[in-house]
Amino acid sequence: MKVPSSALKVTLAGCDMASPIVLAAGTCGYLDEMSVALDLSRIGAVTTKSITPLARDGNAPMRVFDVKGGMVNAVGLANMGVDRFLASKREAIATLPTTVIGSIAGFSVDDYVAVAGAFESIEGMPIVEMNVSCPNCDNGRLASSSVETLREHVAAVRSVLKTTKLFVKLPPNTDSLVHLAAGAIDAGADGLTFVNTLEVMSIDVRTRKSRLGRPRKGMSGPGIHPLAVRLVNDVSRHVARDAGIPIIGLGGVLDWRDAAEMILAGATAVGVGTGLFVDPSCPRRINKGLARWVRSQGCSSIGELVGAFEE
Ligand SMILES: Cc1cc2nc3c(=O)[nH]c(=O)nc-3n(C[C@H](O)[C@H](O)[C@H](O)COP(=O)(O)O)c2cc1C
Repeated sequence: MKVPSSALKVTLAGCDMASPIVLAAGTCGYLDEMSVALDLSRIGAVTTKSITPLARDGNAPMRVFDVKGGMVNAVGLANMGVDRFLASKREAIATLPTTVIGSIAGFSVDDYVAVAGAFESIEGMPIVEMNVSCPNCDNGRLASSSVETLREHVAAVRSVLKTTKLFVKLPPNTDSLVHLAAGAIDAGADGLTFVNTLEVMSIDVRTRKSRLGRPRKGMSGPGIHPLAVRLVNDVSRHVARDAGIPIIGLGGVLDWRDAAEMILAGATAVGVGTGLFVDPSCPRRINKGLARWVRSQGCSSIGELVGAFEE
């Protein structure tokens, strides 16, 4: 299939990408697992699972279930830890035919700095994404609990990155996203990614207890899409656009129209997460639809449509 067209090429914080479509952290395996369903050279970027300094089991299973309008998960940052990750994936990172975004997570400044420092030293990972917005662990959102705390964490990670670009992944559960975004930019972020999952509850009415262990967990999928579009528009217009900071917009993108909305709202690139659970090959369809849309809008490049929403 002859997609994506050159009309889909974008540059994200200096990285040239074949398409604006980014596979979202935690939804596409550690790195290259989606290559069984997709030609990764046609995808803009793959985001790794969020990696912490030490291995984590995450929360007890079951960790995922369907709700009306999407899915809820309580994975809890299960991962093999940075040393094993790099020992097993270093070569694949250097040779993957797409941009690799390394997602890092932690529970203290030192955690983030340790993983960022390890990622800085390897070949083939031009972007690090700080996940400061995991709703599924105690303290998973500590780093974004206030603008001051976020600035401190971002500045510390920024100081250990030399050539690697730094994106900060923000939560939707806040009435101060614009302020958090401004703080992250001020502390040295080269880009912003949002939204992470929406913190929700779901109760088993028979047992009167929480479905999936933890009372609070993260919702993703179509039900959060209109909120994500609104937040991308707000942050783009109030802080990111004037600062020249690109946004990876995500939340409930299942088809090309959802992706196009994100672009019009101000996203340079568009993440797909839950969509991969519905159909792992959906990025191919999204690319195809976006290429047609760009032509139908009389444009030669999708970049012309970034932030082109008319209020
Ligand atoms: C099962 C699952 C695991 C996830 N794990 C991570 C993770 O490790 N790190 C992270 O930054 N986001 C994680 N996310 C959040 C997604 O990257 C994304 O921000 C969110 O799901 C919204 O996008 P979507 O509606 O397209 O899924 C996870 C989401 C799901 C559904």
